[in-house]
Amino acid sequence: MIRKILKIVKEKLFKVLYVFFIKTASKSPFASSLYYLFISRKFHNEHYVMLNGIRKNLMDKSNIGNFRRNIHRLEKGLITRPPKPVFAQDYIINTVEVLHELYNSDIDRNTINWAVGILTEYFSISPFTEINQKAKKIFQSLGIKGTQNMPKTFHANNRINSQVTYTDFLALNKQRRSIRYFENISVPRELIEKAVIAALEAPSACNRQPFTFRVVDDPILLSKVLQLPLGAKTFSDQIKMMIFVIGDQSNYFSERDKHLIYIDSSLVTMNFILALETLKLSSCIINWGDIQKSNSKLKEILTLEDWEQCVLSIAVGYAASDCGVASSLKKNVQTVIKYN
Ligand SMILES: Cc1cc2nc3c(=O)[nH]c(=O)nc-3n(C[C@H](O)[C@H](O)[C@H](O)COP(=O)(O)O)c2cc1C
Repeated sequence: MIRKILKIVKEKLFKVLYVFFIKTASKSPFASSLYYLFISRKFHNEHYVMLNGIRKNLMDKSNIGNFRRNIHRLEKGLITRPPKPVFAQDYIINTVEVLHELYNSDIDRNTINWAVGILTEYFSISPFTEINQKAKKIFQSLGIKGTQNMPKTFHANNRINSQVTYTDFLALNKQRRSIRYFENISVPRELIEKAVIAALEAPSACNRQPFTFRVVDDPILLSKVLQLPLGAKTFSDQIKMMIFVIGDQSNYFSERDKHLIYIDSSLVTMNFILALETLKLSSCIINWGDIQKSNSKLKEILTLEDWEQCVLSIAVGYAASDCGVASSLKKNVQTVIKYN
């Protein structure tokens, strides 16, 4: 009896203190920081991942995120209206030096081809400056041949014309509903790869694409990872494939970009789950709460780096023919638009 009373008192006291701290700490950004430094540990993991990302970015001279950002900046410079006579002087030498470092490494060949194509275009029109001359020499010393088929900037009229109508696109979006019950059939990896190819066409900040899809279809591994997300407890036994979208904070040198892994991972995921629908596959996004214990466990199971953070997880499979689906009626369009 006494124990019960003590427990209730403790809970009440805790609640009062909690409300007091939240009210006081929310009064200013500084007080909020003190709260998260001394009272709550809820941001510790995010800070740790962010700082490790910046450290890795600073130490890594050939950082792929910075490199892709520079190629993107060159492309933007090439299409700027009205044309800028001189640009990229503060990063062109670094860009060609990094290309040198990466050219014969095992990094993604699309990144290399993109860089070679855009640098070729840049040097074909770049004005004579000391910096450009030096950069061009470094670029040419790679001795790359056959650059005529490499990527180039192009005119808006020459974009691929998909012929997908609004009606078709709306129907595809309506077809996609979160599915939580799946047939006992394994998901072909080729289909996942096809869906990821389409997903990768999503926009991302400076075209860095700071994410990986960690696909888990091994039954033993699956049974371990399925215990982690809270939102799949009632149907985890149904899931034959779980994908974790992992953001990589080492793509950034500054905290100003701390949200980009979440934004870019979400955009690519949207493309991905729509692509799955075209391949007769269904999915349900499962929330990845920022819970220290789950983060640590996933990090251990998937051997994640200190600068990697799970953004969300996705259950993928063939919809069970007899399963129920929530109607999930959407908001009225007028309520989500405000003009000017
Ligand atoms: C970020 C995010 C987290 C979600 N987490 C869960 C989850 O943990 N468990 C679940 O069953 N559904 C989850 N969902 C699915 C939503 O419940 C679902 O998208 C929403 O109800 C709308 O339904 P619809 O996807 O069929 O349009 C999540 C969706 C998103 C976008």
